[in-house]
Amino acid sequence: MALDRMKLFACNGNPELARKVCRYLGIALGDAYVGRFPDGEIDIKINEDVRGQDVFIVQPTCPPVNENLMELLVMVDAAVRSSAQRVTAVIPYFGYARKDRKEEGRVPITAKLVANLLVKAGVDRVLALDLHATQLQGFFDIPVDHLFSYPVLCKYFKNLKVPDLVVATPDVGGIRMARAFSRGLGAGLAIVDKRRIAPDQAEIGFVIGEVKGCNVLLVDDMITTGGSIASAARVLMQKGARNVYAAAAHAVLCDPAPTVLADSPIKQVVVTDSIPLSDKARSLGDRLNVLTVSELLGEAVRRIHMNLSVSALFTDQEGGRDEDGDGES
Ligand code: R5P
Repeated sequence: MALDRMKLFACNGNPELARKVCRYLGIALGDAYVGRFPDGEIDIKINEDVRGQDVFIVQPTCPPVNENLMELLVMVDAAVRSSAQRVTAVIPYFGYARKDRKEEGRVPITAKLVANLLVKAGVDRVLALDLHATQLQGFFDIPVDHLFSYPVLCKYFKNLKVPDLVVATPDVGGIRMARAFSRGLGAGLAIVDKRRIAPDQAEIGFVIGEVKGCNVLLVDDMITTGGSIASAARVLMQKGARNVYAAAAHAVLCDPAPTVLADSPIKQVVVTDSIPLSDKARSLGDRLNVLTVSELLGEAVRRIHMNLSVSALFTDQEGGRDEDGDGES
């Protein structure tokens, strides 16, 4: 591979993933200092020449979200001012993505704000993984390569050979994603439709599809507090599911997710390393399995640098969520 005109740097969001991507590419991780001034401001210094280089910066904007986002923006600024020829933000997890439209008055659209900030800072292109909603690509007026961790997760469950498998989504927004998994695994499809029966009455769940006596794989783009996936798993068990597994691209797993998952009927939770695991999340032990997306990201970086097609990696465009819930692209 002729990768002599590229450099890959990491901020503090997920340096381990960046190192793995470098290992895949057979290059050394770029040398940069990403620290803090005594007052908490971010201090960055790129310790090697990047003039005329194709620069990639790996940084998920996971918790601490504001720190990680700001580190990314400052690193981009440093690269641009160091005369990098092109700067690609590799964002394995894109935070602030949930607010992608005004559902009521006087609220921000933070996904668009973050896209604007990145472009303004000087990002030339974005490589993202499992955006919360695929339409976020349109928030950027620069090229966005949107990868899905679906092939990595799907391969794992194929190898597990779980009998009588049904794929389920914990909400209607995930139908497209669940459909891709069900097709890939040759499994059935079910939807857990959570409804509030009255403003002051607890949410109950209906299941569309047959799960009685089946092993169910719940798929979602992220697990944050664990509430959605744990309550969906409970509903599925009540409907007679044999075992419930869960797969998600992003293990945000903020409090109280580790406890919620530990107390849930979910047999195994499978996530990717787009976000580093917290110590609390590690306490889930064997019930939490982390798969790496480093090869997927590494191959995309290689192709971007070599001006080769990246779309060949988009194994199934339907791996993404559909926030309209209409099942359409
Ligand atoms: C919802 O739109 C997302 O896809 C996830 O279902 C949600 O963010 C998970 O959040 P939590 O784990 O806090 O229920």
